[in-house]
Amino acid sequence: MAFTLAFDVYGTLIDTHGVVNKLSELFGNQEQAQAFSQTWRDKQLEYSFRRGLMQNYANFAVCTRDALNYTDSFYQSALSDTQKEELLAIYRTLPAFEDAKTGLESLKAQGHQLFAFSNGSADAVETLLTHAGIRDYFEGVVSVDEIKSFKPNPATYTHFLRRSEAKANEAWLISSNPFDVIGSISAGMRSAWIKRSPTAVFDPWGIEPTVIVPDLNQLAAQLAD
Ligand code: 2OP
Repeated sequence: MAFTLAFDVYGTLIDTHGVVNKLSELFGNQEQAQAFSQTWRDKQLEYSFRRGLMQNYANFAVCTRDALNYTDSFYQSALSDTQKEELLAIYRTLPAFEDAKTGLESLKAQGHQLFAFSNGSADAVETLLTHAGIRDYFEGVVSVDEIKSFKPNPATYTHFLRRSEAKANEAWLISSNPFDVIGSISAGMRSAWIKRSPTAVFDPWGIEPTVIVPDLNQLAAQLAD
């Protein structure tokens, strides 16, 4: 059966830790770079959750910039404005995971309709996917910015279904982020958790992914008829 597949972007298609190399260069320390990158990502998502709940929307690039400033203060790394702009520029051109191209190619060949579906603005996602060389696999890009809220607001998944003209029971959300998997299932979709790290923990909410796979190649194997 051909499905509509909504691909989360940051952390699922695109490796947000692509900034670690630049951070390692700045700090001269890989461990500190990893910790900074993780705090930055966690705070970026926290800001999106808080803004969604507060109904005080600002786009995901603002959450990313504010989270960078928080992380810089938290670690007292005293980054210059130039260094911060360099990091934000890298964030706009992060690399795709190595399984992205082959996985997307297989899924498209199976007849599924592929969309990118992200907290990021449409422009930011178009730039990311084009730079990463994977834009052409997608029928379109759907951004939560169009309804001025953030995942996992159920309205964002409904917005995706409306924009992709798919029914909930014919659509999958594909994400490495448990909050996104739980949010989409709660909105009536199926969802695949891309468990990219063997030590990744899924939230113990009693809502389980429809399938769990380590990468997009394994997802294609699961969704093949
Ligand atoms: C997204 O791309 C934040 O990873 C999440 O929507």
